[in-house]
Amino acid sequence: MEENHFKKFEEMKVIELPEGYIAYRLGSGDNLELFDIFVNKDERQKGISKKLVKLMLEAVKDNPPNFSVFGFTAKDNLTAQAFYQAIGFTLILCPLYPLGAFMYVAEYQKLCDKLFKTDA
Ligand SMILES: CC(C)(COP(=O)(O)OP(=O)(O)OC[C@H]1O[C@@H](n2cnc3c(N)ncnc32)[C@H](O)[C@@H]1OP(=O)(O)O)[C@@H](O)C(=O)NCCC(=O)NCCS
Repeated sequence: MEENHFKKFEEMKVIELPEGYIAYRLGSGDNLELFDIFVNKDERQKGISKKLVKLMLEAVKDNPPNFSVFGFTAKDNLTAQAFYQAIGFTLILCPLYPLGAFMYVAEYQKLCDKLFKTDA
């Protein structure tokens, strides 16, 4: 495929740590969209994903989303579902649900309260 077939997706931001990354966008409707989060296999279950989510929340704090933070995962990704729920997201029924895609939502401020105030 030709290189210029792709349009650059300028709005996507990536925060990288040696152990993994998080990709997000402060999108339309003042929502924060979490596209992807990945932690290297040998660094999992050490709190790195929580650290990445906190870095994302901090990165947008001067221009915070009014309402929601969205995240998506596949229905067979039980680890990602456990992660979203532990972090403070709620599963919502969207039209993608019957197709096997789970959508999670959380209020920006509530997420900050949970992750920073309790230092979770
Ligand atoms: C999902 C993923 C990002 C979690 O990263 P992590 O650094 O291991 O997660 P943390 O150690 O910060 O744990 C956060 C919470 O997730 C849950 N969790 C993480 N791994 C889990 C596992 N294997 N089983 C059950 N719960 C798990 C826990 O509830 C944990 O909270 P707790 O420590 O308070 O119990 C990581 O497993 C990963 O990169 N998976 C592959 C990529 C992927 O599926 N990304 C998500 C797609 S959107």
